[in-house]
Amino acid sequence: MIKMNNIVKRFDNHTVLSDVTFEVKEKEIFGLLGPSGAGKTTIINILTNQLKSDSGSHEINVIPFETGLMLDEDGLYVRLSCIENLDVFACIYGIPRKKSMEALKSVGLIGAEKKPVSALSRGMRQRLAFARAILHSPKILFLDEPTSGLDPGTAQGIHEIIQNLRKNGATIFLTTHNMEEAVKLCDKVALLHKGRIVEQGAPAEICERHHAFKTVPDLESVFIKMTGMDVQ
Ligand SMILES: Nc1ncnc2c1ncn2[C@@H]1O[C@H](COP(=O)(O)OP(=O)(O)O)[C@@H](O)[C@H]1O
Ligand SMILES: [Mg+2]
Repeated sequence: MIKMNNIVKRFDNHTVLSDVTFEVKEKEIFGLLGPSGAGKTTIINILTNQLKSDSGSHEINVIPFETGLMLDEDGLYVRLSCIENLDVFACIYGIPRKKSMEALKSVGLIGAEKKPVSALSRGMRQRLAFARAILHSPKILFLDEPTSGLDPGTAQGIHEIIQNLRKNGATIFLTTHNMEEAVKLCDKVALLHKGRIVEQGAPAEICERHHAFKTVPDLESVFIKMTGMDVQ
């Protein structure tokens, strides 16, 4: 569904991605894991054609309309209400406005539809940004740090939405620096350090390979072993 082959990206003379290769299959939840500055957002920007790589290739097996994107900055219209924020996009996509209400419902924001974004909590904003990303029922969803800065309860809500979307047939590509989240949600992960993938595979498989499997897979210690660094 998504492929990157030997991608290299430089900003000026600084190489931020070196030889990045991975593949995401249909209906997988794929997690790109790494600390701040590792190159996660740059990979999403290349996959969604917002940035050009210097060499290598990438492909996505759906048309652009069938992809949804939630960036690390939510880009919501703060003076508009929740429902108005979604209606703007329903209009752009040419889909019925009842889809806006459906999306709000799926993220648990019914009741807040008339509230202006400026009056929402951080968790509610994040859920609204999520609703906007899934409004047109995309087949592939890119989520850049979808739970960063959220309390555990709100993050759990987002995890459930992600799992439901996958049940309904979506392929999900997410970035995170939360190893526990990755183990819980992802079928496959790639550990990214300074623009290089140092390990990839199913979390349990990676942890077994590195003898980091006590009661649960311990990706954190694999990351430290591979890079000498803590992911936080
Ligand atoms: N537009 C840009 N110009 C120059 N350097 C950039 C630009 N965007 C990102 N970088 C650099 O690329 C590296 C990777 O950034 P990024 O992909 O945002 O990492 P992450 O999302 O993992 O935190 C960082 O060192 C960052 O400073
Ligand atoms: Mg980022």
